[in-house]
Amino acid sequence: MTTAHVGHATSRVDGRLKVTGAADYAADHDPPGVAHATVVRSTVASGRIVEIDDSAAAGAPGVITVLTHHTAPRPHARARAHSAQVDPTVTHRLRPLQDDRVRYQGQPIALVVAETLEAAVHAATLLRVTYAAGVATTDITRAQPVLPTPKQTDKGERQPAVSQRGDPEGALAAAPIRVEQTYVIPRENHNPIELHATVAAWDGDRLTLWDKTQWVANVADEIAAELGMPADHVRVLSPFVGGAFGSGLRVWPHVMLAALGARAAGRPVKLMLSRRDMYYGTGFRPHTVQRVALGADRDGHLGAIVHEAVQETSMYEEYDESVVDATRYLHSCPNVATRRRIARLNEHTPTWMRAPGEASGAFALECAMDELAIALRLDPVELRLRNEPAQDEFKRLPFSSRSTRECYRVAAERFGWGRRTPEPRSMRDGRWLVGWGMATATYPTHRAPAAARVRLLPDGCAEVATAASDMGPGTWTSLTQVAAEALGLPIEHVQLRLGDSALPRTPPHGGSMTMASVGSAVQAACHEVCRAALARGGGDDLAAAMARIGQPVEATVKVRAGEETTRFSMHAFGSVFVEVAVDPDLGETRVRRIVGAYGAGRIVNPKTSRSQCVGGMIGGIGMALMEHSVVDPRTGRVVNANLAEYTVPVHADSPPLMDVTFIDERDPHVNSLGVKGLGEIAIVGVASAIANAIHHATGKRIRELPITPDKLL
Ligand code: MOS
Repeated sequence: MTTAHVGHATSRVDGRLKVTGAADYAADHDPPGVAHATVVRSTVASGRIVEIDDSAAAGAPGVITVLTHHTAPRPHARARAHSAQVDPTVTHRLRPLQDDRVRYQGQPIALVVAETLEAAVHAATLLRVTYAAGVATTDITRAQPVLPTPKQTDKGERQPAVSQRGDPEGALAAAPIRVEQTYVIPRENHNPIELHATVAAWDGDRLTLWDKTQWVANVADEIAAELGMPADHVRVLSPFVGGAFGSGLRVWPHVMLAALGARAAGRPVKLMLSRRDMYYGTGFRPHTVQRVALGADRDGHLGAIVHEAVQETSMYEEYDESVVDATRYLHSCPNVATRRRIARLNEHTPTWMRAPGEASGAFALECAMDELAIALRLDPVELRLRNEPAQDEFKRLPFSSRSTRECYRVAAERFGWGRRTPEPRSMRDGRWLVGWGMATATYPTHRAPAAARVRLLPDGCAEVATAASDMGPGTWTSLTQVAAEALGLPIEHVQLRLGDSALPRTPPHGGSMTMASVGSAVQAACHEVCRAALARGGGDDLAAAMARIGQPVEATVKVRAGEETTRFSMHAFGSVFVEVAVDPDLGETRVRRIVGAYGAGRIVNPKTSRSQCVGGMIGGIGMALMEHSVVDPRTGRVVNANLAEYTVPVHADSPPLMDVTFIDERDPHVNSLGVKGLGEIAIVGVASAIANAIHHATGKRIRELPITPDKLL
């Protein structure tokens, strides 16, 4: 039995539960007497509800209650001021069924609760709604971009919307080599296989929610605050999440609707969104329009970077992600200007979707770098090596560690980059045009306060409890490894509990910060409980001490980042190399192989980490070649709100070779575990590497995603 667990490829401790169907996801819960609900959504994008006739719906077979803005409970009269605990990135909460205003196409305007889902869905079709439709803005190119209001966030540090060092426009005008282009990424939707769902059950004045979420603590706080209840009267359970990619980081209106529906029905209510619902109710990666201008001398040293982004947000809320922020530190350059702006549209609020900001920004910046390399007749890897910074030139701090050079070297070598012929259309395989492209990847190492409780038992086993969710990356396993190692126990002797707001509080399971935050808390709690047990039981052998004590010993520890965050700039870095083949007659692109190398600090579990990176690569293929939520500008309607017409990569789209290397990086500064996080960086740069490879294959530079066959013909 080994007790050295961190760094070992460990199979998922929850794997058996998942493959046997024993792991219960939110919608799997059927409390006694559960009723089923469906959301009725507005069919206009702006205006007011003039009349809503629910008589036929309410009288339909099996219907228990129909809630509209006339009949829904009015809990907000008692809503207390939001505590500082409640997600501060939310600038305005959409309170469903509280007024007659319509702010976007697909806004909830009624909830039907019935004995069965079929009865609810049928009754929903009987609702008669008359609107006074207003003028809707649905097209980002017709909206006036504005600067976002500065604000704090729990999900990492929010950088200012505007930054400048040196004289970027002057340096740009003086640069002998210039590239200036506009890059567009359309709206993209998260499509986890598990649909969002909430099961709500009241017991007197206490509420239990089984909810698909990445942040149980916040759901409990927000729903309690909105209902004017003490926070500990709401309990949120989410131990298993079937993928989320960020869609579970917010409390969406359906969660409140489930709670209101259960109260009105006097029974537990299950509200599972349909796939179509998810395009109107759980956020999306915002459509962005980015301008990048690069200026360089003839040796390829960057003299100027200007990177500006406009991103869509809703009419009622500012959503603003870090699209341009990595440009401030990724490549060395004395004159840099960045700016983020938002454009308000009649739509629901976008949200974080895997590497929010960085994934979008890297597409523009790393394609522009490729265009610059071509203008300079320089190898794109060599261009990046010539602009490798000695420190974070934006924060003016040393990097805690930065293995970019090693990532380029290792990935290029494994890929065979040296055999590339630089001329576009110069590499072929039969009738296919072959192209090789690359890009740099980066993502900040975030960390937020987190707590964990560890209980040692006399029989030598341990129970570890923390509120964190696991949306799929393998948190169940990696936290168990950290605890087992810190306690010197075999994996099987550690019992973990996750995904329950009654457990010690954790930050969002997002921003690639779970291991840095919660992993550090688990490790600290394990060390603390060992100290306590040895102090009580005597000696230096934990098992002997526990046997002597004869009863459980427990410790709860909360940890947070220290002053290291003011002394170092902390980021994971990587590089990704791609081979594509493009059919010259049909315009079809096949990604043949992807090679990535990452300096992401210590790798707790190489097996689940590799899976994370492969998942990010596949997500990047979707972003580059397929994903596009097509909005009809006349109505604000998503015309492909389903998995048949919104295409995501399947196995046949995934290359047989996805090669992942982790650079052996020991970072003593980031946190006690030395981890930087992996969830997000794995998608960053993939779409740019693919676009660059397509240019190499075809000579065509496509700056608007997705790169579909029509754009290549
Ligand atoms: Mo990730 S977008 O922070 O779930």
